[in-house]
Amino acid sequence: MGPGPITVDPRVLHAMSAQLVGQYDPFMTATMNEVMALYRGVFRTENEQTLLVDGTSRAGIEAALVSLLEPGDRVLVPVFGRFGHLLVEIAERCGAAVHTIEAEWGTVFTAEQIDEAMAQTRPKVLAVVQGDTSTTMCQPLADLGEIAHRHGALLYCDATASLGGNPFETDAWGLDVVTAGLQKCLGGPSGSAPITLSPAAVDVINARKHVEAGIATDSDRPRGARIASNYFDLAMVMDYWGPRRLNHHTEATSMLYAARECARLLLVEGIDDAVARHRLHGEAMLAGVRGLGLEVFGDTAHKMTNVVAVHIPDGIDGEAARTAMLEEFGIEIGTSFGPLAGRVWRIGTMGYNARHDAVLTTLAALEQVLRAGGAGVTAGGGVGAAREVYEEARA
Ligand SMILES: Cc1ncc(COP(=O)(O)O)c(C=O)c1O
Repeated sequence: MGPGPITVDPRVLHAMSAQLVGQYDPFMTATMNEVMALYRGVFRTENEQTLLVDGTSRAGIEAALVSLLEPGDRVLVPVFGRFGHLLVEIAERCGAAVHTIEAEWGTVFTAEQIDEAMAQTRPKVLAVVQGDTSTTMCQPLADLGEIAHRHGALLYCDATASLGGNPFETDAWGLDVVTAGLQKCLGGPSGSAPITLSPAAVDVINARKHVEAGIATDSDRPRGARIASNYFDLAMVMDYWGPRRLNHHTEATSMLYAARECARLLLVEGIDDAVARHRLHGEAMLAGVRGLGLEVFGDTAHKMTNVVAVHIPDGIDGEAARTAMLEEFGIEIGTSFGPLAGRVWRIGTMGYNARHDAVLTTLAALEQVLRAGGAGVTAGGGVGAAREVYEEARA
């Protein structure tokens, strides 16, 4: 019940145990095409270039930024938590001139603040995190595509923590590049980074295409500034996933199966229903921790549906309590980073763990652990408050 990775859906584990096939086996290429189509549904996009980057979520971020950004390009990153800093770090390593605006942890930006910073910095890329797992905040994105495009920029978003559990609209919101991971609301393991690229982003990347010697043909004349990474060169990765099937890496087949099952399960449930499920269990957990007398961190009006941060009560040893949750009840809850390290616990209700029984059991266990640590808690206050949320939803 941490902020991810979370318990993997058993159906995804089962899919991962399927036999491997060669990389140009018709089953393999058909599965790759199917995965592209499924993730168009997940991202809500018509983008042809919707595929997987092999590696954890930050592999997707690196692939997006290193393929878009040339040394000296300006990028604007609104930072409201640890993962905004990660975008800055990766963009700097690409040699970009990185501009930031910062919001206090526990808050998000208004569209006006971002618009103003865009006018001042005029970047090639506006790079933003949707759900910053470190603070649990969810940045509103609906206006940012229009803002980015009005200022002549592409809009990149890291939706790792939020996709599948919070509303997300690639095309309707005008996002150019989006990357994610499986290990949060999609209910899978880490190790695959779904990505989608708008035609405008594809043009920018293909203008830097340098196909590897040994597989390039006469028509593959190098163009533009070569992308600084081979593995994350999306111009080549797109040719590997596209009809040309130009050899690049050896696709991580078990992760391909996992990614396919995650997307299939989400689309069978229906994205709106999955978001509603995350919202319901997130609200129950929020009410439950409040019912235990815990203080919630941050602007809850902008909280992701799928994770809550609570202040560790005075006199309670946060790490000892996490250990007791794990050792006595088999339940993992999260700590946090940077300025929040040791100050808050983060409790997730995402993917396979966005479930009634998981919420109630976690709250019951937390009550016992708080009580044992000497905190004054209302008996049954957590489970009772969560049950009221469920009863209201049923009524
Ligand atoms: C918002 C966000 N972005 C990026 C990452 C990095 O993901 P990974 O550890 O899969 O590389 C995480 C991980 O928790 C995250 O929450």
